[in-house]
Amino acid sequence: MVVVVDFGSQTTHLIARRIGEWGVLAKIVLPKALPSFLYKTKVQGIILSGGPASVYEKNALSFASSIFKKSIPILGICYGLQLTTHLLGGKVTRGKKQEFGPAKLTITHSSSLFKNTPPLFTVWMSHGDEVVTAPKGFVILARTDTIPYAAIANKKQNVFGIQFHPEVVHTQFGDQILKNFLKICGLKPQKQAISRSYIKKIVLDIKESVGSEKAICALSGGVDSSVAAMLTHKALGTNLTPIYIDSGLMRKDETKLLSQTFRKYLKMKVRIINAKKDFLKKLSKVVDPEEKRKIIGNTFIEVLEKQAKKMGAKFLIQGTIYPDVIESAGTKHSKKIKTHHNVAGLPKKMRLILIEPLRNFYKDEVRKIAKFLKLPDEITQRQPFPGPGLAVRIVGSVTDKKLQMVRKADAILQEEMKKAGLTNNVWQAFAVHTGIQTTGVRGDNRAYGNTIALRVIQAKDAMSAHWVHLPYKLLNTISSRIVNEIKEVNRVVYDVTNKPPATMEWE
Ligand code: XMP
Repeated sequence: MVVVVDFGSQTTHLIARRIGEWGVLAKIVLPKALPSFLYKTKVQGIILSGGPASVYEKNALSFASSIFKKSIPILGICYGLQLTTHLLGGKVTRGKKQEFGPAKLTITHSSSLFKNTPPLFTVWMSHGDEVVTAPKGFVILARTDTIPYAAIANKKQNVFGIQFHPEVVHTQFGDQILKNFLKICGLKPQKQAISRSYIKKIVLDIKESVGSEKAICALSGGVDSSVAAMLTHKALGTNLTPIYIDSGLMRKDETKLLSQTFRKYLKMKVRIINAKKDFLKKLSKVVDPEEKRKIIGNTFIEVLEKQAKKMGAKFLIQGTIYPDVIESAGTKHSKKIKTHHNVAGLPKKMRLILIEPLRNFYKDEVRKIAKFLKLPDEITQRQPFPGPGLAVRIVGSVTDKKLQMVRKADAILQEEMKKAGLTNNVWQAFAVHTGIQTTGVRGDNRAYGNTIALRVIQAKDAMSAHWVHLPYKLLNTISSRIVNEIKEVNRVVYDVTNKPPATMEWE
C-alpha cells in the first residue's frame, strides 16, 4: 500500500487513481492522521500531495519531520516538495514568476525516478512558491527555464520532491514517473483496467442501497448521467424513472435529441419536464456565477422533488463524477473552485436520498464503463455539457436574448467542427457570451454589439486542459458565420488559455 497525504490539492484523488491504475492500493490520509496510520498499517511508500497554502504561512498544513526518518520512500509533489524542503532545512519563497500550465523539464542528474524518460519533456505546473535552497543531502535532478529546483532527491534515503504534477495527463511521462516511484517502493506496478466484475459490483451496491423502493434519475443527456441511469436500470428495472428537466439553458435541439437517443438505444422512456419559466425567473438579474450555480442546483432539486412525490420515489440517482466533487471543495482541505450544480449547489435539506454511483470516477473511466454497457457512440463520445448549461456561458445576468445569441453561436461552432471532422477529437467546443460590448461598423453604420468568445479545449479527465490550435481557416469560417448570422454580435474572440490557471467554463 501507498499512502497519499492530502494537503488539499485538486488532484489528490487523481494521484490515488493513477497509483490504483498500476494495481497498487492507494489510501488517502489527512496530514493529522498520518502518524497513527503509519503506526497501524504497513505502508510501502508515501506521496505528499500539492495544496493551496504556502509552507511559510502560519497555519500551513504539516506533519512531524520524523516521518522522513522511517525509511519509507517519499515523493513530494508541488506543496509536497516545498514541505519536504521546509521541514528538512531548505528554503521556500514566493517565486518571482508564478507558473501555470506547460513547462519544459530538463533532467540534469540521473535517478531511478526518471528512468525511461527522455532528457527533455513537457510537464504541467501550477504554483506560486518555489524552492530556492535544497535541504542538506539533496541533489537537483531536474530544472525548467524558470525554476532551478524542479526535482530534487536525497537518493540515499529515497526522498524525492518534484514541483510539477505527474498525475495530470498533460505531463508527459507522468505515468512512468509514478511507476518508477512505485518500483522504488519495492512494488511491482502492473496496469489495471475497468472490468466487468467491477461494474457488477456497482450495480449490486445500488440494488442493496435502494432495495424495493422507487427511484428517479436526473438525466442531462451527457455520458455521466446516461451511464448512471443504465447502471441503475440494471439494478432496479422499472422501479427507476429517468427524468430530464428542460431548464431553458440547453443547447439547440438538445431536448429532442435526448429523448430520441434514449428511446432508440436505451429502450427507456424518459419523463421530460419543461421548467424553463422557473429557471429564467429565478435567474433574472443574478450576476454572481456562484449564486447562479446555487440557484440552478436548488431549482433542479425542487422540480425533481415534486416529481418524486408524485411517484412515491425516495431515491435520487445523479451522474456526479469526481471532478464535480473536488471543484466544489469536496475534501477537507481543498479550496472551492466552483459550485458544481449537482454537488455544492444542492439545498442543505433534501427530502430525497442521494445515490451517486460514479462519484469516484473520472470522465474517461465513465466512458470505458459506457463501452462495457454497449452505449452508442452518440452518448459515449458526446462532449460534456455542464448541468447549469448556457447560464455559465453567459457572463453576467442571464436573459432570453443572450441565451438565443450564445445558442446560435454554439450551433454554428458545432456545425463547423463537425464538418471539419473535429468534434470527436476535442474535449469540448463551445461559445461564450462574454457580456462585453464593443464598437463595430455594419453597412457604414456604427454598431455597438456583443462579443462572443469561442473555447475549444482538449483534456482527458477534466483536471487539466489545453486550448486546441484550430486551423485559421476554420476559425475564420466560424467567426464570419457568427457575425453574419447573428446580428447582435460584431466581434468574435478565441480563448487561448489552458487549465490551470483558467477553468474550462468561463463561470
Ligand atoms: P471547469 O469549468 O470546472 O469544467 O474546468 C470541467 C468540466 O466540468 C463541466 N462542468 C460541470 N458539469 N455541473 C456539471 O455537470 C457543473 O456545475 C459543471 N461546471 C463545469 C465543464 O463543462 C467541463 O467539462
